[in-house]
Amino acid sequence: MRDTVPDLGDLRERLDAARSVTVLTGSGISAESGLPTFRGVGGLWRTHRVEELASPQGFARDPRLVWTWYNERRNAHASVEPSPAHVALAEIEKRVPDFTLATQNVDSLHVRAGSRNVLELHGSLREAKCTRCDARQPLDDVLAMGDAFAHECGGMWRPDIVWFGEALPAGVLAAAFDAARRADLMLVVGTSGIVHPAASLATKRATRAYVVEVNPEETALTAQVDRSIRARASDVLPRLA
Ligand code: OAD
Repeated sequence: MRDTVPDLGDLRERLDAARSVTVLTGSGISAESGLPTFRGVGGLWRTHRVEELASPQGFARDPRLVWTWYNERRNAHASVEPSPAHVALAEIEKRVPDFTLATQNVDSLHVRAGSRNVLELHGSLREAKCTRCDARQPLDDVLAMGDAFAHECGGMWRPDIVWFGEALPAGVLAAAFDAARRADLMLVVGTSGIVHPAASLATKRATRAYVVEVNPEETALTAQVDRSIRARASDVLPRLA
């Protein structure tokens, strides 16, 4: 049986002393809000074909299928609330001089919880972008167009999500690596740590910070972090806030 009051060790003291904190989050933190993860039980990639739904090739083959799926996910995001863990990170941000939250999540729950310095490494489901030019517009406006996903330049509207085989937004990624370099303390919350370059932020090559992982399971990053707290995000983060 899991200990319901996990031992935080000296994490609270380290947080109080830190001038620069970087947090890397993944879908596990949003599991606390009721959204599925990708690879866990009931995970999205266990029941859906990644290459059909999250690749440029899949989109070129069947844009309607891809849009339908992202519309369902967007509705699922809108139907849940930020968890105590999301809220705790927004609270912690208020008292740390230099705080960066790099998230792999596209659900906007950190923003809705009040986090301000959020780097959305894999994009978000708030906007759509054109496959050909730099045009962008709110996702809702594109969905209101029905099946007419064509942009006037000859491209197509697509969700502003990083798909498999695509590069992360360069400015966002650079800002995340800068934050990792500056950090005294890094928290890695709710990610399996297998998707790079996001997971690389928590490695010794990217940061000199004391790295603490918060995850009920062992992950690909566990061997590299300074401390692993085997617990759910909501059992740990609110106690730090
Ligand atoms: P995964 O599904 O790979 O991992 C989720 C992690 O969350 C696992 O390590 C779980 O043990 C952990 N977890 C589950 N519940 C938790 C809780 N209550 N508190 C803390 N941790 C919990 O999801 P990600 O690591 O987010 O990319 O996946 C990374 C990327 O892979 C995603 O951003 C997505 C996906 O393909 C794109 O779509 C580009």
